Amino acid sequence: MKPTLLDQKFWRNFAKNNWEKKPLVLKNVKSGLLEMGDAEIFNLLVLYSDRCRKLNNPEGFKFYIDGFKADAEDVLQVLPEKNDKSLLGYHARMKALFPDYCLVCDELLKVNLNKQHLLTDFTDELYRHVGFPNRFSEMGLYLGNYRKTPFGVHVDSCGVFSFPVAGLKRFRLWTSAFAKKNPGLDRAFKYDKYKKNSQLLEVGPGDMAYWPSSAWHIAESDGSFSATWSLGVWIDQPHKEVFSESLKDLLDRKLGSVGATPTTPFKNLRSKTGEVAELPETYRKSIELLQNLTALELQETFLKSWMKHISLQGFKNIPHVDFKLSAKSRIQLRSDRSLILWQQGLTSKEKVYFSFGGVLVESSKSSGLLKLVKAVNAGETCLVSDFLKGASLKKDLASLRVLADAGAFI
Ligand SMILES: [Fe+2]
Repeated sequence: MKPTLLDQKFWRNFAKNNWEKKPLVLKNVKSGLLEMGDAEIFNLLVLYSDRCRKLNNPEGFKFYIDGFKADAEDVLQVLPEKNDKSLLGYHARMKALFPDYCLVCDELLKVNLNKQHLLTDFTDELYRHVGFPNRFSEMGLYLGNYRKTPFGVHVDSCGVFSFPVAGLKRFRLWTSAFAKKNPGLDRAFKYDKYKKNSQLLEVGPGDMAYWPSSAWHIAESDGSFSATWSLGVWIDQPHKEVFSESLKDLLDRKLGSVGATPTTPFKNLRSKTGEVAELPETYRKSIELLQNLTALELQETFLKSWMKHISLQGFKNIPHVDFKLSAKSRIQLRSDRSLILWQQGLTSKEKVYFSFGGVLVESSKSSGLLKLVKAVNAGETCLVSDFLKGASLKKDLASLRVLADAGAFI
C-alpha cells in the first residue's frame, strides 16, 4: 500500500474536515514519529527507567494493575530493565506477574532531546493549520495487555492522535450528543447495548488514529500486548483565560501598594435611600492607573507572555539540563528547530527580552547578549567571553545561565 504523506494538502484537509469535528483513521502513514521502531523505544524506556531508579522517583510513569493505579514506590519495581532486552521481553516479565497491566510514560521523548524533533515536526505542522494550543500537548507511551482503558468510557478535554508501535489497537467512540442522552455510558466498562451507536477505529503499527476532544472513548483489546504513542492536544483553555492571566500580571505590577490594601476605606457606603453612588478613593486611584496604561505597555505585556508561551513549543515543559556555563564555555544551540526567542522592549528601547523553554530573561540592548543569541541562532558555535564582557558581564552571564538551564545549548 502506498504510504500516506502528511503533506500540506493532508493538513489543510485535516484542519477543515477533522480537527475538532470528526475522527480519522489513516493507514500506513509516513511520519518521522512512526520511524522510531520498538527497539529504539525500548532503549528510551530503559534509559528513562534507569534515571527514575537512580533518583528513586518514578515521576513520568504510571502503572495500572487491573485498572487500579499503583503507588509510586511500587511503580519503581515494575519498570523496564535492560535485561528485558525488548518490549516483548518486558511484556513477558510483566504478564507473568499481572494478567492485566498498563504502563504509561508521559515523558519518554524528553530523555532523548535528539528525538524531540520527531514529535515537533508533527506538532509544528498541526499547529500551523489548526492554531497553537493555548494550553499544551502531551505525548505519552501506553503499553500493556490491558483489555479496557482503566477508567472506562470517558471524555478528555483533548484531541488525541494515536500511533500504535506494536500490536493492534481498537478505540471505540461515541459522539458527545449520544453520551449526553445516555448517561449510563459515563465510566462504563460494560457497554454492549451502546455498541451499535459507536464508531470503531482500528489501527496497527504504521497507522494513525485521531478523535476530537468531544468524543467519548475507550480502548479495547483482546488481552494481547500493545504499545501506542498517544498525543493529546489540550483544547480546554480559551483565549480569554490566557489574555486575562497576562493582564492580571500587568495589573498586579501596576497597582503596586494600592493593589495590596486588604481593607477599603470609604466615606459613605450608601445614601439613605440605599443608593450606592460613589467609589472609594482606592478604586479611583486604580482606575486612573488603568487609564494611564499605554498601548505600548499593553502590547509589550502580551508580546512577552506570548513569546514565553510559544518558547515551550506547545509542550507542558521542556526538560531542564545540567549545564555548567561560564565565560569560557563554547556554546551551540541544541537544535536548529528550537531557537532562542527574543524581542525588543517596546516601552524601553534599551531592553531586550529572551525566552527559551518557558523562561524569560531580560538584558540591555547594548550588552553582547543579543549578538551572542543571534550568532547561536544562526548555527554558530560561540565562545561566551567573545560576546559578554565589561560591566554587564555578570548580569548577562546569569541570564545566559537561565537559558542554558532551560536546555537551550549543548
Ligand atoms: Fe482518554
